[in-house]
Amino acid sequence: MLIRLLYISRAVGAITTTMTGSILASARVHNRVAGITGVLCQGQGLFIQILEGERSTVNRLYATLIKDKRHQDVELVAIEEIQTRRFPEWSMAHVVISENDPIVQLKHPEFDPFNATAEDLLSLVDDLLAQSSPIH
Ligand SMILES: Cc1cc2nc3c(=O)[nH]c(=O)nc-3n(C[C@H](O)[C@H](O)[C@H](O)COP(=O)(O)O)c2cc1C
Repeated sequence: MLIRLLYISRAVGAITTTMTGSILASARVHNRVAGITGVLCQGQGLFIQILEGERSTVNRLYATLIKDKRHQDVELVAIEEIQTRRFPEWSMAHVVISENDPIVQLKHPEFDPFNATAEDLLSLVDDLLAQSSPIH
């Protein structure tokens, strides 16, 4: 049984390249083995992450993630059963959100994940992925 889980959180301190690098390194190794795919969007002190995979595997990862001291205010936005993955090709794609990004300015001007619906967030992630070349 496949699910998709979407959560948001606030980074603890500044998001540095070293921090992102180490998160992505463990994510890519672990997710590949665990059959998890998804996207990590990061920027302006925030994370938006989508995880897809078997329900029990995604739940186990989420339980680990919420204890990670590199972020706080972890808020579960949506969890749904899915037939097919939206991001099958990425063990964890990485997208940087910048407030100067035309996508954010034109289509999501009042961007605030903590006040956005799951639908808005998914559409933001789709827009960001479509115009960037995320790293696999
Ligand atoms: C915002 C954020 C996203 C993360 N995403 C993942 C992920 O997709 N997969 C993963 O295995 N770990 C992820 N982590 C790291 C986990 O919380 C945890 O540190 C890691 O699974 C432990 O792996 P290790 O034993 O290789 O250090 C994330 C951490 C943060 C702060």
